[in-house]
Amino acid sequence: MISLAELSRQLEKMAHRSQTWLPCFGILLVVLSLPSSLARVNSENRIKTAVFLSPKFVLGPGSVVDKYYMNIDFPTGHIALKSFNAEVVDEAGNPIPLHETYLHHWVVARVHQRKGVEAPTYSEKFGFHQSDLIMVRNSGLCETGLGQYFGLGSETRRTATHVPDPYGIEVGNPAEIPPGYEEKWMMNVHAIDTRGVEDRLGCTECRCDLYNVTMDEHGNPLRPDYIGGLHCCYDQTQCRLRDGFESTKRSLFMRYTIKYVDWDSSVVPVKIYIFDVTDTWKKVDDTTGLPTKHHCLVEYDVESFSSSGLTKDAYTDTKTVSLSLPTGGTVVYGVAHQHTGGIGSTLYGEDGRVICSSIPTYGEGKEAGNEAGYIVGMSTCYPNPGSVEISDGETLVLVSNYSREQRHTGVMGLFYILVADASPKSDSLLVSPVEKHEEMKVPIALWGVAFLGVAIAVAVVVAYRKSNERVDGYESILV
Ligand SMILES: *[C@@H]1O[C@H](CO)[C@@H](O)[C@H](O)[C@H]1NC(C)=O
Ligand SMILES: *[C@@H]1O[C@H](CO)[C@@H](O)[C@H](O)[C@H]1NC(C)=O
Repeated sequence: MISLAELSRQLEKMAHRSQTWLPCFGILLVVLSLPSSLARVNSENRIKTAVFLSPKFVLGPGSVVDKYYMNIDFPTGHIALKSFNAEVVDEAGNPIPLHETYLHHWVVARVHQRKGVEAPTYSEKFGFHQSDLIMVRNSGLCETGLGQYFGLGSETRRTATHVPDPYGIEVGNPAEIPPGYEEKWMMNVHAIDTRGVEDRLGCTECRCDLYNVTMDEHGNPLRPDYIGGLHCCYDQTQCRLRDGFESTKRSLFMRYTIKYVDWDSSVVPVKIYIFDVTDTWKKVDDTTGLPTKHHCLVEYDVESFSSSGLTKDAYTDTKTVSLSLPTGGTVVYGVAHQHTGGIGSTLYGEDGRVICSSIPTYGEGKEAGNEAGYIVGMSTCYPNPGSVEISDGETLVLVSNYSREQRHTGVMGLFYILVADASPKSDSLLVSPVEKHEEMKVPIALWGVAFLGVAIAVAVVVAYRKSNERVDGYESILV
């Protein structure tokens, strides 16, 4: 199997060489197991619903999978995506709770793959054949990593993701697919089996000592101060179990539900933006006077109150970044992505107005969708049409808050918004009344919540700087 680190290094190189983002995905690697689909397409009114299963993955107590599945089942044709929901289920279709299988993240990305190429091949020396695979990134702003269209983590079951009418995420438009290529979708699933582990939170936060990991997936030594994060819980790693704990391996799947409508001129397209509070972008670089790159490190650590040695008002870790949105528009949806310990995140406009605030819901029970201590949902924003606008070039401020009651490693602070052109069209003309009905049911369903668009992110990039490297030494898993 190819190492992702190597892969991403190759990708970085290629990205420098050519303007296009090609090879991004390398993905490839891995596993093209049986695309076990149970496509159940049913079209209720205008909205179509498709339910699929990912390829099977197998987990035993304490074990980790971080798989990349190329060419997953996905609706075809020129369509507008209205929601994307997913959860982990077993072979009988039963939802698996987070305290058994922690869903660190899943990510779905859009690619254009050359026709006739079964699975793009990867060479250690040359990377992917550049022209076989082109990743279609979301609208930004990160320049590496976080290019996906959809993705979430533990909050998957209770985070609304539907795109309100008259909007939709346009995909499969033949005019956007280069001649000789076809549109495909790939999925990355990172799950950790915490049955019988010594320290559940530690395993889900990928503490290196619990995984007995001192080198990354590629055999490079970790920075001495790297105590936890994705570099310590890569595919096939094992988290420490309680003495004598035994249980069986089991086969699991991602079951994902996509709602969509056929494309037509009444649908207003939206752009997907993913902001990362670890983005190192600066409007003005001290030495060059120019803006710097958007390096999105994805993960960061939160010190505990006791170790921070500060006063009581330091119970909250507040991380902030300023970012400039080149092209503005009307915000139609917003949601943050945080990990355990997160207490909320807000995106502000340049004048300090709140664009969207997204707060986690923690579970209180045992059943799937309500697991005590885990973030089981994030609140979302659905502004009234036209009420929240961002102007071209506006500087936004993203704030991500975590509790410092205990230390956390490998946490995230992403914010995802859907933005439509601020056109003066009359909304009433665009709304499809049929769809309204459908959409009303969605938020009520406990976990059926369609989350959509969510591309949130999950993470897929790992930020790891080798001690002797500058900031661009980070590696992205999913470019
Ligand atoms: C941890 O890793 C070291 C070497 O990498 C190995 O010698 C040791 O047995 C491992 N410990 C456990 C508990 O697996
Ligand atoms: C984040 O914390 C700061 C104080 O540190 C507070 O002013 C702000 O309202 C908090 N925001 C959210 C979304 O929790």
